[in-house]
Amino acid sequence: MHVAMIGTGYVGLVSGVCFADFGHHVVCVDKDAAKIAALKRGEMPIYEPGLADLVAANARAGRLTFTTDLKGPVAEAEAVFIAVGTPSRRGDGHADLSFVYDAAREIAAALSGFTVVITKSTVPVGTGDEVERILRQVRPDADVAVVSNPEFLREGAAIQDFKHPDRIVVGTDDERGRDVMNELYRPLYLNQAPIIVTSRRTAELIKYAANAFLATKITFINEIAELAERVGADVQHVARGIGLDNRIGGKFLHAGPGFGGSCFPKDTVALAKTAQDYDAPLRLVETTITVNNARKRAMARKVASALGGEVRGRTISVLGLTFKPNTDDMREAPSIPLITALQDMGAKVRAYDPAGMAQAKAVLADVTYCENPYVCAENADVLVLVTEWEEFRALDFDRLKMTMARPVVVDLRNVYRPDEMARRGFDYVSVGRPKTTTS
Ligand SMILES: NC(=O)c1ccc[n+]([C@@H]2O[C@H](COP(=O)([O-])OP(=O)(O)OC[C@H]3O[C@@H](n4cnc5c(N)ncnc54)[C@H](O)[C@@H]3O)[C@@H](O)[C@H]2O)c1
Repeated sequence: MHVAMIGTGYVGLVSGVCFADFGHHVVCVDKDAAKIAALKRGEMPIYEPGLADLVAANARAGRLTFTTDLKGPVAEAEAVFIAVGTPSRRGDGHADLSFVYDAAREIAAALSGFTVVITKSTVPVGTGDEVERILRQVRPDADVAVVSNPEFLREGAAIQDFKHPDRIVVGTDDERGRDVMNELYRPLYLNQAPIIVTSRRTAELIKYAANAFLATKITFINEIAELAERVGADVQHVARGIGLDNRIGGKFLHAGPGFGGSCFPKDTVALAKTAQDYDAPLRLVETTITVNNARKRAMARKVASALGGEVRGRTISVLGLTFKPNTDDMREAPSIPLITALQDMGAKVRAYDPAGMAQAKAVLADVTYCENPYVCAENADVLVLVTEWEEFRALDFDRLKMTMARPVVVDLRNVYRPDEMARRGFDYVSVGRPKTTTS
């Protein structure tokens, strides 16, 4: 099948290359000429494990190409995906759909023969109706079905997630649209991935409901962590104790500095706005947003208190900047409010991240970026572990102790054990667990 993927970001590029790997012919389109030129040279615009090899293999096989011009690929395609960004709209937090609607207008002008136009971007309920209206307005003669097919992949494990999804959601009432979607995903349902076929509006709501639920689950355990600290309990054990209950499940029960990333923050806000507009407010989701924002800010106070409240002139070493490991994505990363708040308090910040420093430089000024964790820790009054990259899981604490000004660690991901850190001679603060000191 011929596929045009409009938007070649995290979702478009990963989906495009995976569809090509299934044997479809895919053209990835993007307005960003530098991104397309880099992809043609075999350079990946994002950090995602396994992506470069998969792109190279499918490009070599002639199933995957890149262009800035959507006309030819759309005219040839039976399936056209919209995978452009849907960021928060400035001012009111609604999803900014201008990229989606611009793409729809461009697609409309290029349509030829029966085509299924599929929204993969995360879009509020009713967006598919508007995309269809635009297509029919620009091209009353077009033979088109508009389908919702939200994407659930996680950055850092995107290829695995795309190829082994928990489920595939297809929103359409159009029989021909459904047949094309079945054909596209045939390799996956041969692997028994469940396909949920439902109405377009239901599919759109499923995506937001899933993200809002996960964000709420994280926020719930973060609040329990806060309580655990006050009452002298251990949130890790609480999480295990409740997570082993099948009705609850153990995933997304890791206490930390608050959720960030390219999806949860904007999607929870957009869902809450939609719900208000329809006079069915989602109080739980609204509270999740408020609690999470406050938590991200509170992390700087946690670091300050590990320093005895004296931050001015202190050197703070931050390990991990991206919103989670195995990505270079800095969107809404908890490291951003943490570092800026510490700088506001007068701290000098040194930082190291395995993949995110190029992106971080665009959003965080006056930070000394270092080449490894040990250089980062030089003369530090406190080491703050913000993102749990694998390479931070077995740090050489003897070496760190020699290079740091003071042996103080704030571990916002509970990577280490409090008793172990005390044994190694560190004052150690983590999340939702007892604090340990050497004195
Ligand atoms: N990143 C994730 O983990 C993830 C997961 C699931 C769903 N989503 C959703 O998928 C969508 C895309 O997210 P992303 O992270 O891939 O975004 P992104 O910002 O990485 O990529 C979007 C791309 O679309 C391009 N673009 C915009 N308008 C265009 C046009 N008219 N024609 C061609 N290209 C155009 C941009 O240049 C950019 O490269 C969003 O709605 C997001 O919420 C993201």
